[in-house]
This record gives sequence, structure tokens and C-alpha cells, in this order.
Amino acid sequence: MQHHELFALAERTRENAYAPYSHYTVGAALLCASGKVYTGVNIENASFGATNCAERTALFSAVAAGERDFVAIAVAGGRQGEASGDCTPCGICRQVLAEFADPDLAVILKDGTHTLGELLPLSFTESKL
Ligand code: THU
Repeated sequence: MQHHELFALAERTRENAYAPYSHYTVGAALLCASGKVYTGVNIENASFGATNCAERTALFSAVAAGERDFVAIAVAGGRQGEASGDCTPCGICRQVLAEFADPDLAVILKDGTHTLGELLPLSFTESKL
């Protein structure tokens, strides 16, 4: 799947976001080495800290399905009812992605493609323990 197709899927998935508090909706699409794609949205909660970001929703679905090898993730987010904007993965999501993905994971955003290593340099991972 091409990068623009993965981003388009993230944008479509964004429509399912549950964001009644922030009104900021995010969709993610995670491409696995198997070729399968898992999607996720942000799911907010009245207890704000219980909110789950779109990237982690997608990753957790993939891991629960037995996937362990990841190629790329596309993230599309913006104010509800508006076109996708300059949404970038939050720090927690970068850390959770780094648990499972190599630094060369492609992170596809509206402004172009980055790598996880660029977004989370000097990451703390299992090799440090
Ligand atoms: N959000 C994500 O889903 N992914 C990110 O990487 C950035 C933030 C969500 C969390 C919350 O529901 C809303 O965007 C505003 O922070």
C-alpha cells in the first residue's frame, strides 16, 4: 500500500473518532509487514486521563491480532469538522510505537513522511534494561 493510500485510510477512519471533549479528531492506519492494515481513532473519556490516542488504538488492535512487525503508520487529525491539519503523534504514542517498531518505521503525516527515529531520538527501549 502506498503512503498516500495509507494516509487516505487514516483520514476516512478519523470520521469514527470519539472526541466529545476536545472536539479534536484523529485517525490512524498502521501497515504491518504481513500486508494487513489496522486502523484506530482517539477514544476520549469523561475521566480525561483514560483517553486513548488513535495511534495506540491502531497499534493495540494489531498486537492483539498477533502482529509484531510494522512498516508504516499514517496519522490524520484536526479539529472536528475541519480538514486534517498538522497533527503529530504525542510523546506517549511515540514511546509506545518504539516498543514494537524500529526507528525506521515510516510515520506518514499530512506534511510528509518522517521516521520514528526522527520523532523520538535517543529512545528508551528494552535494550537499556
Ligand atoms: N490525540 C491523538 O489521538 N493522537 C495524537 O498523537 C495527538 C492527540 C488525541 C487525544 C485527544 O483525544 C485529542 O487528540 C486532543 O488531545
